[in-house]
Amino acid sequence: MDNSTITNKEKVLVTSALPYANGRIHLGHLSGAYLPADIYVRYKRLNGDDIIYICGSDEHGVPITITADNEKVSPKVIIDRYHELNRLAFEKFGMSFDIYSRTSLPVHHQTAQEFFKSYFNQGLLVEKKSLQFYDEKVKMFLPDRYVEGTCPRCGNEEARSDECEKCGSLYEPSELKNPKSKISGETPVLKETSHWYFPLGKFQERLEKYISEMSEKFGWKENVLQYCRGWFKEGLKDRAYTRDLDWGVKVPVDGAEGKVLYVWFEAVLGYISATKELSQKRNEPELWKKFWQMNDTKYVAFIGKDNIVFHTIIFPAMLMAWNDIQPDKYILPQNVPANEFLNFEGKKFSKSRGWGVDVLEFLDLFPPDPLRYTLAANLPENKDTDFYWKEFQSRNNGELADILGNFINRTFTFVFKHFEGKVPPLGKLDKIDEDMIKLIEEYPAKVGELIDRYKIKDAVFEMMNLARAGNKYFNDSEPWVSVKKDKVKCATALNICLNCIYTLAELFEPVIPFSSEKIFKMLNATKCNWSTSGSLNLKEGHLLGQSEILFTKIEDKVIDEQINKLGKPDGELKTVDEEITIDDFKKIKLRVAVIKNAEKVNKSEKLLKLKIDLGNEERQLVAGIAKSYEPENLIGKKVLVVANLKPAKLFGLDSQGMVLAVDTPEEGKVKLIEIDNSVSPGTLAK
Ligand code: 2FM
Ligand code: ZN
Repeated sequence: MDNSTITNKEKVLVTSALPYANGRIHLGHLSGAYLPADIYVRYKRLNGDDIIYICGSDEHGVPITITADNEKVSPKVIIDRYHELNRLAFEKFGMSFDIYSRTSLPVHHQTAQEFFKSYFNQGLLVEKKSLQFYDEKVKMFLPDRYVEGTCPRCGNEEARSDECEKCGSLYEPSELKNPKSKISGETPVLKETSHWYFPLGKFQERLEKYISEMSEKFGWKENVLQYCRGWFKEGLKDRAYTRDLDWGVKVPVDGAEGKVLYVWFEAVLGYISATKELSQKRNEPELWKKFWQMNDTKYVAFIGKDNIVFHTIIFPAMLMAWNDIQPDKYILPQNVPANEFLNFEGKKFSKSRGWGVDVLEFLDLFPPDPLRYTLAANLPENKDTDFYWKEFQSRNNGELADILGNFINRTFTFVFKHFEGKVPPLGKLDKIDEDMIKLIEEYPAKVGELIDRYKIKDAVFEMMNLARAGNKYFNDSEPWVSVKKDKVKCATALNICLNCIYTLAELFEPVIPFSSEKIFKMLNATKCNWSTSGSLNLKEGHLLGQSEILFTKIEDKVIDEQINKLGKPDGELKTVDEEITIDDFKKIKLRVAVIKNAEKVNKSEKLLKLKIDLGNEERQLVAGIAKSYEPENLIGKKVLVVANLKPAKLFGLDSQGMVLAVDTPEEGKVKLIEIDNSVSPGTLAK
């Protein structure tokens, strides 16, 4: 195809927020920072721009350490698991990252430390001592959101350590009443610690100027500007860029043992280190500099609204501070087209409440393109939007299948039946043909211009409008009539329809890439430059390929099944447990025991002392089931016991084994796993 009219080639760097490797990504994430970016990038590639698209896992921060503690595994196990799951989810969804990196890589640690050292050496950072809550049970300083207590001003019992969301007051942690650690439930103590603060306030004036200039030149979104104005109005304050934690990037300064860089400080630099990794992988050492350190790069950072301050204020200030003294200067984001949130059937996504679907689950049930199309047609560009199962069904059935699929299908069927599967010749044009050709020619620029302005929802609407116009043209030109009366007229109409399909295949590529590829195959053609995709590229006599099914209709019962699953947390949500081998399992001896006696343990609300019979021996066992059972109701029950557990002392009592129970929906209550009466004590479970 003709690529000769490539104009105004841009050098574009695109990043999408690095998702935490601490859980699976769901549809909300896709709508916020990933799908819009992928559509933009795919469009720019078709346009012939020099573009790279960077993403990866954000693998530090306290929540990851908490997940690891809860599962009794190392943080590495957690990040490896979710990095891989999310990488796979993105791949199946058709995300076209040039790299999906990780912030646990050495190249990232080095990059982040280099930035910190640069600030430290220029004397920019201010070391400050402060009192912070420390949880002696889990031996860690508690980040603000892991402390809850009573607000010293309004009495709100869910206030954070230094801030009350209810009355909006800020206070010293020492003023918070009844503080509790959200991690252990214990009362934390105040302990002195010191941290390095970045003087963000010093950058306020420059940041305001930067944002207003960029916004004026490149049209920043109003929702993004509003957030920024809010921050500026309040006044930017010093921010601690270190934390007391052992999981993360070590603070590269003497005397900073036990401290790591604040996760947001290093995460944003993850974009740079990921590009360095791409450079290494492609064996182009200068590639990352070409994008990050040359003024002609257009850098666009796609994010969700909760990340705005980090990308419009914190990251630019960090880059400015580096540029102030280093010879190699970084470029700043030219635009940060943040989206609002996508909700699910009217409520926020919540894994624990079983509300929402994660990407891998979804793609086990349906192909990616209908999801991409539905999300793209309803992006939360200016306000929060919702995913509804019924809308997904109607977008698939009523738009992809009935409009786009139908237009392609009827055209192909006709051409194979009456023109031997070849592009028919273009004859004399009537007004209706000329109008249709004009439309086809206009659409690439029209859609491209919308994507360039991040109006992706509108662009998708226009794409489908061209398919609508194609269907209408097919109807109005009545090829089933002209095929009998005026074959030249009929051939002309079909030629135009096929060329319209070609344009649609190109225009829809960024949104439904898997289907677009199929359409190109059906046309026996390849993509061209976006700007030439409306130029009637298929010529007379061109042999078409084989027809394929593009979109399958989704039946009501399939959708109803999904709707019925909602709100059942444990029902369909798969948990991902760490794998063990059969040999690991065989090490655990689970035996049937009968409870001979049970009594309360003095001064303990939770514990019962049990005497159990294991067939050929009796043992004493201390079990945390006092809130769930009265002792007298336990006698005679047959239960499962971990028989080879190392003996332990609980409340001064020997406990030789552990009785198995499962959680119930009632807080603090469990249910013993009971064994049928016919099984003898001592029997091994396997
Ligand atoms: O909100 C999040 O999921 C963050 N992990 C995003 C980080 S974006 C960038 F800083 F890396
Ligand atoms: Zn308050």
